Amino acid sequence: LERTFSIIKPDATRRNLTGKINAKFEEAGLRIVAQKRIHLTKAQAGEFYKVHAARPFYDELCEFMASAPIVAQVLEGEDAISKNREVMGATNPADAAEGTIRAEFAESVGENSVHGSDAPDTAAEEIAYFFSGLELVG
Ligand code: GTP
Ligand code: MG
Repeated sequence: LERTFSIIKPDATRRNLTGKINAKFEEAGLRIVAQKRIHLTKAQAGEFYKVHAARPFYDELCEFMASAPIVAQVLEGEDAISKNREVMGATNPADAAEGTIRAEFAESVGENSVHGSDAPDTAAEEIAYFFSGLELVG
């Protein structure tokens, strides 16, 4: 079984969508093996998204991620990284396939409800940034 890191973003926690989004993960066969609600500082959001530091939307992205609580999660399952990205849908909700989280819930390309790791190395790094081994309960 593989593990991936997920965030329910501020636009979704603000609209009280945590349970509806978690239902999508569970219906897809992903198990939530760690979960916590936290409010990032802008500096912490900036550290998490530092790969995007050169992008024109970086400052807006960091402001957004610090604008309300997030739910940080570890999802476990068969091919969890790619399965999660499938359930999330395309970055821009206008391009997201029907039934995906972003198609149903995202407000815009920036405020797009969820984050999911894109590869095994980033998944491991992102899980370790938010959780200790003791908090992962498979
Ligand atoms: P993540 O799972 O959040 O990493 O999304 P992704 O992998 O589908 O997209 P990507 O890594 O390319 O971008 C990271 C995040 O930056 C996106 O999820 C959006 O929240 C934000 N983002 C991407 N493109 C834009 C944009 O054009 N404008 C704004 N405001 N935000 C953007
Ligand atoms: Mg990404």
